[in-house]
Amino acid sequence: MSPEHVRIFDTTLRDGEQSPGCSMNLAEKLTLARQLEKLGVDVIEAGFPIASEGDFESVRAVAVELRETIVCGLSRTGRQDIERAASALEGAARPRIHTFIATSDIHLEHKLRMSRERVLEEVDRAVRQARGYCDDVEFSAEDATRSDWEFLVEVFRVAIEAGASTINVPDTVGYTTPEEYAALIRHLCARVPGVDRAVVSVHCHDDLGLAVANSLHAVLAGARQIECTVNGIGERAGNTSMEECVMAIKTRRDVFREVETGIRTTEIYPASRLLSSIIGVPVQPNKAVVGDNAFAHEAGIHQDGVLKAAITYEIMTPQSIGRPSNELVLGKHSGRHAFRERLQELGFALEGEAFESAFRRFKDLADKKKVVYNEDLEAIAADVVIATDDRYALGDVSIVAGTFATPSATVELVVDGTARKASELGVGPVDAIFKAIATLSETKSELVRYQVNAITGGMDALGEVSVTLSEDGRRVIGHGAHTDILVASARAYVHALNKLEWHKRQHQRGEPRGI
Ligand code: KIV
Ligand code: ZN
Repeated sequence: MSPEHVRIFDTTLRDGEQSPGCSMNLAEKLTLARQLEKLGVDVIEAGFPIASEGDFESVRAVAVELRETIVCGLSRTGRQDIERAASALEGAARPRIHTFIATSDIHLEHKLRMSRERVLEEVDRAVRQARGYCDDVEFSAEDATRSDWEFLVEVFRVAIEAGASTINVPDTVGYTTPEEYAALIRHLCARVPGVDRAVVSVHCHDDLGLAVANSLHAVLAGARQIECTVNGIGERAGNTSMEECVMAIKTRRDVFREVETGIRTTEIYPASRLLSSIIGVPVQPNKAVVGDNAFAHEAGIHQDGVLKAAITYEIMTPQSIGRPSNELVLGKHSGRHAFRERLQELGFALEGEAFESAFRRFKDLADKKKVVYNEDLEAIAADVVIATDDRYALGDVSIVAGTFATPSATVELVVDGTARKASELGVGPVDAIFKAIATLSETKSELVRYQVNAITGGMDALGEVSVTLSEDGRRVIGHGAHTDILVASARAYVHALNKLEWHKRQHQRGEPRGI
């Protein structure tokens, strides 16, 4: 019997983007969406259109751009929510409306203040309304794992009768365990009338570190859609990690023989790197599948074994997830073709002026450094991708610092097209630079965190700086890269300011984000 298809529903752009510091602007979302399509995910949840103008525009842009992948917009069950999702999806080749309402007594009593009967009416009305706009409707019972199982059977029966073709069983608070979740999925598959007309989907959060295990157990119990994110980013402790689920299913064919995903696994690593460089949040080194150390064999006995036969300690190959084997990449003699190919391997498909600008910066860097590493290229490409529609642009920076001088910085900042200059003193050179930029931009944001990384080894390493700013309860991370760490710091600060500005513009109208 040929294996059944398990759909990969990627919610990096919606649930993932809801996690602090992981917000993305429109250009960044589009860049990632293109990579997700290349990766072969079945569904991309592109946002929550009613949440803000920015979310609406992102869903619309992704919907218009992608022609193969199903593009999904999230909505609560309210009429306006669903109208807004439908309108954002108008240009989609394959639209899906995903509507949800909580079903646990805890949520009904404390949050919704609704009876179970009212919830059933809402489900019926919302799914029918959504079906009026498109054939592909998913219904989620929020906090399903803390809901009464018999009530869930009723809720899903109503959703399917009203026309939902996917029913999702979220572990919203990351509370369930593998056995319990599998039992719930089996119960629903056996008891919900009409369940054979729908795909049973799972959506887990990682509060107890069980999201991947729970999702995989659910697949063994009959679920055929996994909702997940690249690098496992998401609310609180994160969502189910896409790469871990996909590689578990691929690597353990003996266990998962009944199913397969449609993921092109060689695009996993580029997707992971792309996301990480866009949001400026590094992947933890020991992260399964995509972490820096995932294929690094340190112990002598392991190295010996791997050299003799990789199978001794390697259950999958770095090539199978698209990890470039050649770490030393380009130098100053490399041309456009090699540069474009390497960028593509790293998940960046740059065209036109964006490509030319990245190429100029690469040549500049190659003049200063002997070898340019993948990480250097990622930093350059990410800088170019994010440099769209910005209010602020950094001009010249000059710094005086040392053991005798009081650190001072003179910074030129272009604000709305007009160049301004300011000089400030500081307790250190970074402090002086940040003060000058704060004066010029008149920002009210607070600096929450400042982090420096040498992207690659050696004295000529490219330094990458991440700056976390907070304003009105919103946190953003900006990042900048340069061989001069002080210039990288200035770039990171300006990038974060541009992100804040972007959010201010996009979120002027609208309700609070998140659910
Ligand atoms: O965690 C959750 O319950 C959700 C739903 C909207 C699917 O994200
Ligand atoms: Zn969620």
